[in-house]
Amino acid sequence: MQINHIAFVMDGNGRWASQRGKSRKYGHKKGVEALKKVLQSLKFYNISMASFYAFSTENWKRPKEEIDALFSMMKQYLKNTETELLNNDIKLNVLGRREGLPLDLIESIKKAEELTKSCKSHTVNLMINYGSRAEICDAFNKAIKEGETFIDEKKLSDYLYTAYMPDPDIIVRTGGDMRLSNFMLYQGAYSELIFTNYYWPEINKMRIKEILDEFSKRKRRFGALDNK
Ligand code: FPP
Repeated sequence: MQINHIAFVMDGNGRWASQRGKSRKYGHKKGVEALKKVLQSLKFYNISMASFYAFSTENWKRPKEEIDALFSMMKQYLKNTETELLNNDIKLNVLGRREGLPLDLIESIKKAEELTKSCKSHTVNLMINYGSRAEICDAFNKAIKEGETFIDEKKLSDYLYTAYMPDPDIIVRTGGDMRLSNFMLYQGAYSELIFTNYYWPEINKMRIKEILDEFSKRKRRFGALDNK
């Protein structure tokens, strides 16, 4: 089975940590390790593209200390992971609004994107300061700026941050909540939604298999009749 695009809402780092008497920061640290495990599974499971919701436009409402810790982890991750991305031929994109992000994080993002831009085997999108509603507004504003007077579905899709990328086949949310929380609302129109009760730090290669097994059982009709 070939998966064109799988997307993850990485929820539950904080609860995972508090169950263990640890800080939220520790939970996010384990969350980064979990993300690395997923990346290491891409080739094994024939997954071309994976997207990860790392920081939403609504996450600015969190305490500054937590936000700073997250951005610092992201910067560190981007620095430490460049070689691994290149060795595995993974192209990295960071999607979302750059405004408001620390300058040193923006620099690390630019560097990692530039370094991996010719990688072809897999694409990884880290969604940072991402919100689907903001993305749709940004798309329309870009279209207006470029003089568009009429927008159809394909055109709007090509103005999104995910321009020219396939829509996610699967959107996974860990942590037990069953909602999308402003994630890929346009792209996810026909994605198969999978919700897990375990927290993000608990995801691993076996659990990716479980997700793919569940996906393989789903009948995708895209609004058409089921041709048995
Ligand atoms: C939601 O869990 C998780 C986040 C808001 C952040 C997710 C970020 C990471 C896993 C690290 C990202 C790092 C890189 C390198 C991209 P939560 O903290 O809201 O958990 P809770 O619902 O249990 O409180």
